[in-house]
Amino acid sequence: MKNRAEHLRRRKNLMQQIGSDGIVIIATAPIRQRNRDVDHQYRPDSDFFYLTGFEEPEAVAVLIPGREPGEFIIFCRERDPKMETWDGYRAGLEGAREIYGADDAFPITDIDDILPGLMEGREKVYYAMGCNTNFDQQVLGWLNQLKKQQRAGVHAPGEIIALDHLLHEMRLFKSTSEIRSMRRAAQISADAHRRAMQFSRPGVKEYQVEAEIIHTFMQNGARSAAYPSIVGGGGNSCILHYIENSETLKNGELLLIDAGAEYDYYAADITRTFPVNGRFSRAQRKLYQVVLNAQHAAIEQVKPGNHWNQPHEAAVQVLTEGLVELGLLKGRISTLIKNGAYKKFYMHRTGHWLGMDVHDVGEYKEGDVWRTLEPGMVLTIEPGLYIPADSKKVDKKWWNIGIRIEDDVLVTKDGYEVLSAGIVKEIDEIEALMAGAAA
Ligand code: GLY
Ligand code: MN
Ligand code: MN
Repeated sequence: MKNRAEHLRRRKNLMQQIGSDGIVIIATAPIRQRNRDVDHQYRPDSDFFYLTGFEEPEAVAVLIPGREPGEFIIFCRERDPKMETWDGYRAGLEGAREIYGADDAFPITDIDDILPGLMEGREKVYYAMGCNTNFDQQVLGWLNQLKKQQRAGVHAPGEIIALDHLLHEMRLFKSTSEIRSMRRAAQISADAHRRAMQFSRPGVKEYQVEAEIIHTFMQNGARSAAYPSIVGGGGNSCILHYIENSETLKNGELLLIDAGAEYDYYAADITRTFPVNGRFSRAQRKLYQVVLNAQHAAIEQVKPGNHWNQPHEAAVQVLTEGLVELGLLKGRISTLIKNGAYKKFYMHRTGHWLGMDVHDVGEYKEGDVWRTLEPGMVLTIEPGLYIPADSKKVDKKWWNIGIRIEDDVLVTKDGYEVLSAGIVKEIDEIEALMAGAAA
Protein backbone atom coordinates (compact mmCIF):
# COMPACT_ATOMS: atom_id res chain seq x y z
CA MET A 1 0.00 0.00 0.00
CA LYS A 2 1.38 3.37 -1.05
CA ASN A 3 -0.13 5.86 1.28
CA ARG A 4 -0.56 4.24 4.66
CA ALA A 5 0.37 7.38 6.59
CA GLU A 6 -2.10 9.47 4.64
CA HIS A 7 -5.00 7.05 5.13
CA LEU A 8 -4.18 7.04 8.84
CA ARG A 9 -4.19 10.85 8.95
CA ARG A 10 -7.62 10.88 7.31
CA ARG A 11 -9.05 8.40 9.81
CA LYS A 12 -7.63 10.38 12.73
CA ASN A 13 -9.03 13.60 11.32
CA LEU A 14 -12.49 12.09 10.85
CA MET A 15 -12.49 10.49 14.31
CA GLN A 16 -11.51 13.78 15.88
CA GLN A 17 -14.54 15.40 14.26
CA ILE A 18 -17.04 12.76 15.35
CA GLY A 19 -15.88 12.43 18.95
CA SER A 20 -15.90 9.54 21.39
CA ASP A 21 -19.67 8.91 21.38
CA GLY A 22 -19.67 8.08 17.68
CA ILE A 23 -18.92 5.08 15.49
CA VAL A 24 -18.31 5.11 11.73
CA ILE A 25 -19.45 2.18 9.62
CA ILE A 26 -18.50 2.14 5.98
CA ALA A 27 -18.79 -0.66 3.45
CA THR A 28 -16.91 -0.90 0.20
CA ALA A 29 -18.66 -1.23 -3.17
CA PRO A 30 -20.37 -4.52 -4.04
CA ILE A 31 -19.14 -6.68 -6.90
CA ARG A 32 -21.41 -6.06 -9.89
CA GLN A 33 -22.24 -8.86 -12.27
CA ARG A 34 -21.79 -8.24 -16.00
CA ASN A 35 -23.32 -11.54 -17.10
CA ARG A 36 -23.35 -15.09 -15.73
CA ASP A 37 -19.82 -15.91 -14.54
CA VAL A 38 -18.37 -12.53 -15.47
CA ASP A 39 -18.23 -9.50 -13.18
CA HIS A 40 -17.56 -5.88 -14.01
CA GLN A 41 -14.04 -4.74 -13.30
CA TYR A 42 -13.98 -4.13 -9.56
CA ARG A 43 -13.40 -0.71 -8.06
CA PRO A 44 -13.70 -0.06 -4.32
CA ASP A 45 -16.03 2.63 -3.04
CA SER A 46 -14.23 5.99 -3.10
CA ASP A 47 -15.10 6.93 0.50
CA PHE A 48 -14.03 3.51 1.74
CA PHE A 49 -10.77 3.56 -0.16
CA TYR A 50 -10.06 7.15 0.93
CA LEU A 51 -10.10 6.04 4.56
CA THR A 52 -8.51 2.61 4.28
CA GLY A 53 -6.49 2.11 1.09
CA PHE A 54 -8.09 -1.34 1.01
CA GLU A 55 -8.84 -2.52 -2.54
CA GLU A 56 -10.58 -5.87 -2.11
CA PRO A 57 -14.34 -6.38 -2.34
CA GLU A 58 -16.50 -7.68 0.53
CA ALA A 59 -15.04 -5.44 3.20
CA VAL A 60 -16.39 -3.14 5.90
CA ALA A 61 -14.37 -0.62 7.91
CA VAL A 62 -15.37 0.53 11.38
CA LEU A 63 -13.88 3.51 13.22
CA ILE A 64 -14.46 3.74 16.95
CA PRO A 65 -12.76 6.85 18.38
CA GLY A 66 -11.12 6.28 21.75
CA ARG A 67 -11.80 2.54 21.89
CA GLU A 68 -9.06 1.10 24.08
CA PRO A 69 -8.29 -2.14 22.23
CA GLY A 70 -8.15 -0.25 18.93
CA GLU A 71 -10.03 2.32 16.90
CA PHE A 72 -9.78 0.93 13.36
CA ILE A 73 -11.38 -2.40 12.52
CA ILE A 74 -11.64 -4.15 9.17
CA PHE A 75 -14.01 -6.96 8.29
CA CYS A 76 -12.76 -8.71 5.18
CA ARG A 77 -12.39 -12.04 3.40
CA GLU A 78 -10.13 -14.58 5.02
CA ARG A 79 -7.23 -16.06 3.13
CA ASP A 80 -8.24 -19.16 1.20
CA PRO A 81 -5.64 -20.84 -1.01
CA LYS A 82 -8.30 -22.58 -3.09
CA MET A 83 -10.29 -19.42 -3.78
CA GLU A 84 -7.12 -17.43 -4.34
CA THR A 85 -6.14 -19.85 -7.10
CA TRP A 86 -9.28 -18.78 -8.93
CA ASP A 87 -9.78 -15.14 -7.98
CA GLY A 88 -6.43 -13.81 -6.88
CA TYR A 89 -4.59 -12.75 -3.77
CA ARG A 90 -6.36 -11.76 -0.57
CA ALA A 91 -4.80 -9.80 2.25
CA GLY A 92 -6.73 -11.79 4.84
CA LEU A 93 -7.02 -10.82 8.48
CA GLU A 94 -3.29 -10.67 9.00
CA GLY A 95 -2.80 -8.49 5.94
CA ALA A 96 -5.58 -6.16 7.06
CA ARG A 97 -3.61 -5.58 10.24
CA GLU A 98 -0.08 -5.60 8.89
CA ILE A 99 -0.48 -3.99 5.49
CA TYR A 100 -3.44 -1.69 6.12
CA GLY A 101 -2.84 -0.86 9.76
CA ALA A 102 -6.10 -2.19 11.19
CA ASP A 103 -6.03 -2.54 14.98
CA ASP A 104 -8.22 -5.57 14.61
CA ALA A 105 -9.55 -7.64 11.73
CA PHE A 106 -12.41 -10.14 11.55
CA PRO A 107 -13.88 -12.37 8.84
CA ILE A 108 -16.64 -10.58 6.93
CA THR A 109 -18.76 -13.66 7.48
CA ASP A 110 -18.76 -12.96 11.24
CA ILE A 111 -19.91 -9.35 10.97
CA ASP A 112 -23.47 -10.02 12.24
CA ASP A 113 -22.07 -11.51 15.43
CA ILE A 114 -19.46 -8.86 16.11
CA LEU A 115 -20.65 -5.48 14.88
CA PRO A 116 -23.64 -5.00 17.22
CA GLY A 117 -21.23 -5.39 20.15
CA LEU A 118 -19.00 -2.65 18.72
CA MET A 119 -21.98 -0.30 18.34
CA GLU A 120 -23.20 -0.89 21.86
CA GLY A 121 -22.61 2.09 24.15
CA ARG A 122 -22.06 4.54 21.28
CA GLU A 123 -24.66 7.25 20.82
CA LYS A 124 -24.21 8.19 17.16
CA VAL A 125 -23.77 5.94 14.15
CA TYR A 126 -22.12 7.75 11.23
CA TYR A 127 -23.29 5.95 8.15
CA ALA A 128 -24.12 6.82 4.52
CA MET A 129 -27.69 5.57 4.36
CA GLY A 130 -29.19 5.01 0.90
CA CYS A 131 -26.06 4.08 -1.06
CA ASN A 132 -26.32 0.31 -0.69
CA THR A 133 -29.79 -1.04 0.10
CA ASN A 134 -28.61 -4.47 1.22
CA PHE A 135 -26.09 -3.04 3.64
CA ASP A 136 -28.64 -0.47 4.87
CA GLN A 137 -30.85 -3.39 5.92
CA GLN A 138 -27.97 -5.01 7.73
CA VAL A 139 -27.11 -1.84 9.66
CA LEU A 140 -30.76 -1.28 10.61
CA GLY A 141 -30.95 -4.92 11.69
CA TRP A 142 -28.02 -4.47 14.07
CA LEU A 143 -29.56 -1.32 15.51
CA ASN A 144 -32.89 -3.03 16.08
CA GLN A 145 -31.17 -5.98 17.67
CA LEU A 146 -29.53 -3.62 20.19
CA LYS A 147 -32.78 -1.75 20.82
CA LYS A 148 -34.52 -4.99 21.70
CA GLN A 149 -31.90 -5.58 24.37
CA GLN A 150 -32.40 -2.19 26.01
CA ARG A 151 -34.45 -3.71 28.84
CA ALA A 152 -31.46 -5.88 29.63
CA GLY A 153 -29.40 -2.71 30.13
CA VAL A 154 -27.87 -2.50 26.65
CA HIS A 155 -27.33 1.06 25.41
CA ALA A 156 -28.35 1.26 21.77
CA PRO A 157 -27.26 4.20 19.60
CA GLY A 158 -29.94 6.86 19.37
CA GLU A 159 -29.00 8.54 16.11
CA ILE A 160 -27.88 7.71 12.60
CA ILE A 161 -25.94 10.64 11.16
CA ALA A 162 -25.04 11.01 7.49
CA LEU A 163 -21.34 10.40 7.15
CA ASP A 164 -21.25 12.09 3.76
CA HIS A 165 -21.01 15.65 4.93
CA LEU A 166 -17.91 15.31 7.12
CA LEU A 167 -16.11 12.93 4.81
CA HIS A 168 -16.95 14.74 1.60
CA GLU A 169 -15.80 18.02 3.02
CA MET A 170 -12.45 16.33 3.68
CA ARG A 171 -12.33 14.88 0.17
CA LEU A 172 -13.05 18.29 -1.36
CA PHE A 173 -9.66 19.62 -0.22
CA LYS A 174 -6.87 17.75 -1.95
CA SER A 175 -3.57 17.02 -0.19
CA THR A 176 -0.15 17.31 -1.83
CA SER A 177 -0.12 13.62 -2.69
CA GLU A 178 -3.66 13.73 -4.08
CA ILE A 179 -2.69 16.69 -6.27
CA ARG A 180 0.33 14.75 -7.47
CA SER A 181 -1.96 11.89 -8.57
CA MET A 182 -4.38 14.32 -10.21
CA ARG A 183 -1.54 16.02 -12.12
CA ARG A 184 -0.48 12.61 -13.39
CA ALA A 185 -4.04 11.62 -14.35
CA ALA A 186 -4.35 14.92 -16.25
CA GLN A 187 -0.96 14.53 -17.95
CA ILE A 188 -1.74 10.99 -19.13
CA SER A 189 -5.11 12.20 -20.40
CA ALA A 190 -3.50 15.16 -22.17
CA ASP A 191 -1.12 12.73 -23.90
CA ALA A 192 -4.11 10.62 -24.92
CA HIS A 193 -5.87 13.64 -26.43
CA ARG A 194 -2.72 14.55 -28.35
CA ARG A 195 -2.48 11.04 -29.75
CA ALA A 196 -6.16 11.19 -30.72
CA MET A 197 -5.70 14.54 -32.51
CA GLN A 198 -2.72 13.18 -34.41
CA PHE A 199 -4.56 10.01 -35.34
CA SER A 200 -7.90 11.48 -36.45
CA ARG A 201 -8.65 11.88 -40.14
CA PRO A 202 -11.63 11.37 -42.47
CA GLY A 203 -12.63 7.71 -42.82
CA VAL A 204 -11.58 6.64 -39.33
CA LYS A 205 -14.19 5.23 -36.92
CA GLU A 206 -14.93 7.05 -33.69
CA TYR A 207 -14.11 3.87 -31.74
CA GLN A 208 -10.73 3.67 -33.42
CA VAL A 209 -9.94 7.09 -32.00
CA GLU A 210 -11.18 5.82 -28.62
CA ALA A 211 -8.77 2.89 -28.93
CA GLU A 212 -5.86 5.32 -29.27
CA ILE A 213 -7.00 7.05 -26.11
CA ILE A 214 -7.33 3.86 -24.07
CA HIS A 215 -3.97 2.72 -25.40
CA THR A 216 -2.28 5.82 -23.99
CA PHE A 217 -4.10 5.48 -20.65
CA MET A 218 -3.02 1.87 -20.18
CA GLN A 219 0.53 2.34 -21.42
CA ASN A 220 0.96 4.93 -18.70
CA GLY A 221 -0.46 2.99 -15.81
CA ALA A 222 -4.01 4.31 -15.87
CA ARG A 223 -5.80 1.00 -16.10
CA SER A 224 -9.20 2.48 -16.70
CA ALA A 225 -10.93 5.56 -18.01
CA ALA A 226 -12.54 7.67 -15.29
CA TYR A 227 -15.83 7.54 -17.26
CA PRO A 228 -16.88 6.24 -20.69
CA SER A 229 -15.04 8.24 -23.35
CA ILE A 230 -17.14 10.49 -25.57
CA VAL A 231 -15.85 10.51 -29.14
CA GLY A 232 -18.43 12.27 -31.28
CA GLY A 233 -17.93 13.51 -34.84
CA GLY A 234 -20.25 15.94 -36.68
CA GLY A 235 -23.78 15.88 -35.28
CA ASN A 236 -22.70 13.48 -32.52
CA SER A 237 -20.70 16.33 -31.00
CA CYS A 238 -24.04 17.90 -30.09
CA ILE A 239 -25.11 14.91 -27.94
CA LEU A 240 -23.72 15.70 -24.51
CA HIS A 241 -23.26 12.11 -23.33
CA TYR A 242 -22.67 10.39 -26.68
CA ILE A 243 -20.79 7.14 -25.96
CA GLU A 244 -21.76 4.90 -28.87
CA ASN A 245 -18.58 6.04 -30.64
CA SER A 246 -19.57 3.90 -33.61
CA GLU A 247 -19.66 6.21 -36.65
CA THR A 248 -17.16 7.12 -39.34
CA LEU A 249 -15.51 10.54 -39.17
CA LYS A 250 -16.11 12.71 -42.20
CA ASN A 251 -14.20 15.45 -43.92
CA GLY A 252 -15.37 18.88 -42.83
CA GLU A 253 -16.76 17.75 -39.46
CA LEU A 254 -15.62 18.63 -35.99
CA LEU A 255 -14.73 15.88 -33.53
CA LEU A 256 -15.50 16.35 -29.82
CA ILE A 257 -13.57 14.11 -27.44
CA ASP A 258 -14.37 14.09 -23.72
CA ALA A 259 -12.02 11.56 -22.13
CA GLY A 260 -10.07 11.30 -18.90
CA ALA A 261 -7.95 8.65 -17.24
CA GLU A 262 -8.33 7.35 -13.73
CA TYR A 263 -4.88 7.16 -12.19
CA ASP A 264 -4.25 6.04 -8.66
CA TYR A 265 -8.04 6.36 -8.04
CA TYR A 266 -8.10 9.99 -9.22
CA ALA A 267 -9.95 11.21 -12.30
CA ALA A 268 -9.04 13.58 -15.07
CA ASP A 269 -11.83 15.03 -17.20
CA ILE A 270 -10.70 16.74 -20.40
CA THR A 271 -12.57 17.78 -23.54
CA ARG A 272 -11.07 18.97 -26.77
CA THR A 273 -12.85 19.71 -30.04
CA PHE A 274 -11.00 19.86 -33.35
CA PRO A 275 -11.58 19.47 -37.10
CA VAL A 276 -11.38 15.91 -38.41
CA ASN A 277 -9.32 17.10 -41.41
CA GLY A 278 -7.04 19.33 -39.35
CA ARG A 279 -8.37 22.72 -40.54
CA PHE A 280 -11.25 24.66 -38.97
CA SER A 281 -13.85 25.96 -41.43
CA ARG A 282 -14.87 29.63 -41.11
CA ALA A 283 -18.02 28.84 -39.14
CA GLN A 284 -16.26 26.31 -36.90
CA ARG A 285 -13.45 28.75 -36.25
CA LYS A 286 -15.79 31.56 -35.23
CA LEU A 287 -17.84 29.45 -32.87
CA TYR A 288 -14.77 27.72 -31.44
CA GLN A 289 -13.17 31.06 -30.63
CA VAL A 290 -16.28 32.11 -28.69
CA VAL A 291 -16.14 28.94 -26.56
CA LEU A 292 -12.39 29.33 -26.06
CA ASN A 293 -12.79 32.96 -24.97
CA ALA A 294 -15.53 31.89 -22.57
CA GLN A 295 -13.26 29.21 -21.15
CA HIS A 296 -10.37 31.62 -20.66
CA ALA A 297 -12.70 34.11 -18.95
CA ALA A 298 -14.10 31.39 -16.68
CA ILE A 299 -10.66 30.10 -15.71
CA GLU A 300 -9.61 33.64 -14.78
CA GLN A 301 -12.37 33.59 -12.16
CA VAL A 302 -10.82 30.63 -10.36
CA LYS A 303 -9.11 32.07 -7.31
CA PRO A 304 -9.51 31.96 -3.56
CA GLY A 305 -12.25 34.28 -2.38
CA ASN A 306 -14.32 34.07 -5.54
CA HIS A 307 -17.49 32.01 -5.26
CA TRP A 308 -18.37 28.79 -7.03
CA ASN A 309 -20.65 30.38 -9.61
CA GLN A 310 -18.31 33.14 -10.80
CA PRO A 311 -16.62 31.04 -13.51
CA HIS A 312 -20.08 30.02 -14.79
CA GLU A 313 -21.28 33.61 -14.84
CA ALA A 314 -18.18 34.69 -16.75
CA ALA A 315 -18.65 31.88 -19.28
CA VAL A 316 -22.33 32.67 -19.82
CA GLN A 317 -21.50 36.37 -20.35
CA VAL A 318 -18.87 35.68 -23.03
CA LEU A 319 -20.91 32.94 -24.73
CA THR A 320 -23.98 35.17 -24.93
CA GLU A 321 -21.99 38.10 -26.31
CA GLY A 322 -20.47 35.77 -28.92
CA LEU A 323 -23.85 34.32 -29.90
CA VAL A 324 -25.21 37.84 -30.45
CA GLU A 325 -22.16 38.87 -32.44
CA LEU A 326 -22.54 35.85 -34.73
CA GLY A 327 -26.28 36.49 -35.15
CA LEU A 328 -27.36 33.32 -33.34
CA LEU A 329 -29.17 35.32 -30.67
CA LYS A 330 -30.82 38.69 -30.93
CA GLY A 331 -31.48 41.18 -28.16
CA ARG A 332 -29.86 42.80 -25.18
CA ILE A 333 -27.09 40.71 -23.61
CA SER A 334 -28.37 41.26 -20.07
CA THR A 335 -31.92 40.21 -21.07
CA LEU A 336 -30.69 37.12 -22.94
CA ILE A 337 -28.76 36.08 -19.85
CA LYS A 338 -31.60 36.83 -17.48
CA ASN A 339 -34.22 34.91 -19.46
CA GLY A 340 -31.80 32.05 -20.20
CA ALA A 341 -31.98 32.43 -23.99
CA TYR A 342 -28.39 31.17 -24.23
CA LYS A 343 -29.55 27.77 -22.91
CA LYS A 344 -30.75 26.89 -26.38
CA PHE A 345 -27.04 26.46 -27.26
CA TYR A 346 -25.45 26.06 -23.81
CA MET A 347 -27.62 23.82 -21.66
CA HIS A 348 -25.17 22.58 -19.03
CA ARG A 349 -23.17 24.23 -16.30
CA THR A 350 -19.54 25.27 -16.52
CA GLY A 351 -18.05 22.67 -14.22
CA HIS A 352 -18.07 20.40 -11.20
CA TRP A 353 -15.72 19.27 -8.45
CA LEU A 354 -13.14 16.73 -9.58
CA GLY A 355 -11.32 14.12 -7.52
CA MET A 356 -11.68 10.40 -6.90
CA ASP A 357 -15.05 10.59 -8.64
CA VAL A 358 -15.29 12.47 -11.90
CA HIS A 359 -18.28 14.38 -10.57
CA ASP A 360 -16.67 14.57 -7.19
CA VAL A 361 -18.18 15.03 -3.77
CA GLY A 362 -18.48 18.33 -1.91
CA GLU A 363 -21.18 20.93 -1.45
CA TYR A 364 -21.57 23.71 -3.98
CA LYS A 365 -23.48 25.97 -1.64
CA GLU A 366 -23.22 26.90 2.01
CA GLY A 367 -26.78 27.42 3.08
CA ASP A 368 -28.29 29.49 0.32
CA VAL A 369 -25.12 31.02 -1.04
CA TRP A 370 -22.51 29.71 -3.47
CA ARG A 371 -19.47 28.57 -1.56
CA THR A 372 -16.15 30.35 -1.73
CA LEU A 373 -13.26 28.81 -3.64
CA GLU A 374 -10.30 27.81 -1.47
CA PRO A 375 -6.81 26.43 -2.19
CA GLY A 376 -6.79 22.66 -2.67
CA MET A 377 -10.15 22.44 -4.40
CA VAL A 378 -10.12 21.02 -7.94
CA LEU A 379 -12.86 21.77 -10.46
CA THR A 380 -13.47 21.50 -14.18
CA ILE A 381 -14.10 24.46 -16.45
CA GLU A 382 -16.03 23.25 -19.47
CA PRO A 383 -18.12 25.73 -21.44
CA GLY A 384 -19.59 24.65 -24.76
CA LEU A 385 -21.95 25.49 -27.59
CA TYR A 386 -24.08 22.90 -29.37
CA ILE A 387 -26.01 23.47 -32.57
CA PRO A 388 -27.61 20.27 -33.89
CA ALA A 389 -28.98 19.92 -37.43
CA ASP A 390 -32.50 21.29 -37.89
CA SER A 391 -32.00 23.89 -35.16
CA LYS A 392 -34.89 26.23 -35.67
CA LYS A 393 -34.20 29.77 -36.87
CA VAL A 394 -30.50 28.97 -37.18
CA ASP A 395 -28.54 29.40 -40.39
CA LYS A 396 -27.53 26.02 -41.81
CA LYS A 397 -23.85 26.92 -41.76
CA TRP A 398 -23.87 26.41 -37.98
CA TRP A 399 -25.56 23.00 -37.98
CA ASN A 400 -23.82 19.96 -36.54
CA ILE A 401 -21.28 22.03 -34.70
CA GLY A 402 -20.85 20.95 -31.09
CA ILE A 403 -17.92 22.40 -29.19
CA ARG A 404 -16.80 21.89 -25.61
CA ILE A 405 -13.42 22.77 -24.14
CA GLU A 406 -12.79 21.30 -20.72
CA ASP A 407 -9.83 21.64 -18.39
CA ASP A 408 -9.09 20.54 -14.83
CA VAL A 409 -8.21 23.43 -12.57
CA LEU A 410 -6.67 23.46 -9.10
CA VAL A 411 -7.36 26.43 -6.85
CA THR A 412 -3.99 27.64 -5.53
CA LYS A 413 -2.99 30.23 -2.95
CA ASP A 414 -2.80 32.98 -5.56
CA GLY A 415 -5.19 31.79 -8.23
CA TYR A 416 -5.18 28.59 -10.22
CA GLU A 417 -3.14 25.89 -11.90
CA VAL A 418 -4.51 24.20 -15.02
CA LEU A 419 -3.65 20.55 -14.42
CA SER A 420 -4.58 19.63 -17.99
CA ALA A 421 -2.43 22.31 -19.67
CA GLY A 422 -0.49 19.53 -21.45
CA ILE A 423 -2.90 19.47 -24.39
CA VAL A 424 -3.26 22.41 -26.77
CA LYS A 425 -6.54 24.26 -27.33
CA GLU A 426 -5.75 27.46 -29.30
CA ILE A 427 -6.84 27.21 -32.94
CA ASP A 428 -3.39 27.66 -34.47
CA GLU A 429 -1.84 25.20 -32.00
CA ILE A 430 -4.39 22.52 -32.89
CA GLU A 431 -3.91 23.07 -36.61
CA ALA A 432 -0.13 22.98 -36.26
CA LEU A 433 -0.25 19.76 -34.25
CA MET A 434 -2.53 18.08 -36.78
CA ALA A 435 -0.52 19.36 -39.75
CA GLY A 436 2.60 17.89 -38.15
CA ALA A 437 0.89 14.54 -37.79
CA ALA A 438 -0.27 14.51 -41.42
CA ALA A 439 3.19 15.44 -42.79
N1 GLY B 1 -17.14 13.83 -18.66
C1 GLY B 1 -18.20 14.23 -17.87
C2 GLY B 1 -18.21 15.66 -17.65
O1 GLY B 1 -17.56 16.39 -18.36
O2 GLY B 1 -18.80 16.15 -16.75
MN1 MN C 1 -16.65 17.45 -16.67
MN1 MN D 1 -15.88 15.80 -19.42
